[in-house]
Amino acid sequence: MAFTPTNDRDFLIKHCKSFLDESAALHLSGGSVHHPTQKQHLVGKTMPECSQETIANCVSSVVRSRRAVRSFKQEPLPREVVEQILTDAACAPSGANIQPWRVYVVSGQVKAGLTDAVVSAFRAGTAPAPVHFPEPLPDLFRARLQDFGARYYASLGIERTDAAARTQQTERNFSFFGAPVGLIFSIDRRLNPHSWIDLGLFAQTVMIAARARGVDTCPQVAFAQYHDQIAPYLQMPSEEITAFGMSMGYGDPQAPVNQARMPRAGLTEFAQILGFPG
Ligand SMILES: Cc1cc2nc3c(=O)[nH]c(=O)nc-3n(C[C@H](O)[C@H](O)[C@H](O)COP(=O)(O)O)c2cc1C
Repeated sequence: MAFTPTNDRDFLIKHCKSFLDESAALHLSGGSVHHPTQKQHLVGKTMPECSQETIANCVSSVVRSRRAVRSFKQEPLPREVVEQILTDAACAPSGANIQPWRVYVVSGQVKAGLTDAVVSAFRAGTAPAPVHFPEPLPDLFRARLQDFGARYYASLGIERTDAAARTQQTERNFSFFGAPVGLIFSIDRRLNPHSWIDLGLFAQTVMIAARARGVDTCPQVAFAQYHDQIAPYLQMPSEEITAFGMSMGYGDPQAPVNQARMPRAGLTEFAQILGFPG
């Protein structure tokens, strides 16, 4: 049967509801259910009323509907939902299961105070320069970065030459783009780069677990430059380093910035698939 992943929210609600309900029920009971008649290759959570194809479509739809969302509704995000998302995300794999991720979740006045601390430093211009890309950036990646910038600022109606408007938009990172919840991800600075892979997998699982609940996110490396402000504010232990932040809440589907679409390279551009018959 044709495999037709979709971004359609109605599809998610119609076909995935029992899957998601049972996942939530399992989560709340803290256990896993084993159905002896289940023929599907699922670990732990098995849903007899959903075919494997339905589950695949459902997961695909959740994954494909995730986007970096940069404008949010003023709707609060309940603490229980955040806890469910993070509990799911903690199922992410990590090398030798060391689970190196740490996350600080801020809301209300605590979030506002963090924003104030970071925005002050941003405006003062004293933060270290961003280091997340090397200079020079290889051509392929520079082209993609430029394409990202063009699409992002076009969605906001900001001209390429309008440095002030760009700076203002960058500053919005630090108020978590108006999201009700902000997250700061950190990791023990003594670990090697491979453990940062674990942190990334955790973050992606956070975003997917959020999306499965209709919750939107934006990962934000922009926070990394402001470790000197963030660490004391959150009382991080000295061995921890701020890796990135994340906005979380219910996205505003009407907001122009949320209309930006970032294309992906086709399968053959990034995958070498070898040794299969045919
Ligand atoms: C590690 C990481 C760091 C990012 N940092 C930022 C950021 O600081 N600010 C921002 O607005 N978006 C940030 N993004 C979002 C990316 O721009 C976005 O994921 C990318 O353009 C692809 O778009 P999509 O997520 O909507 O598919 C970051 C994404 C990742 C994975």
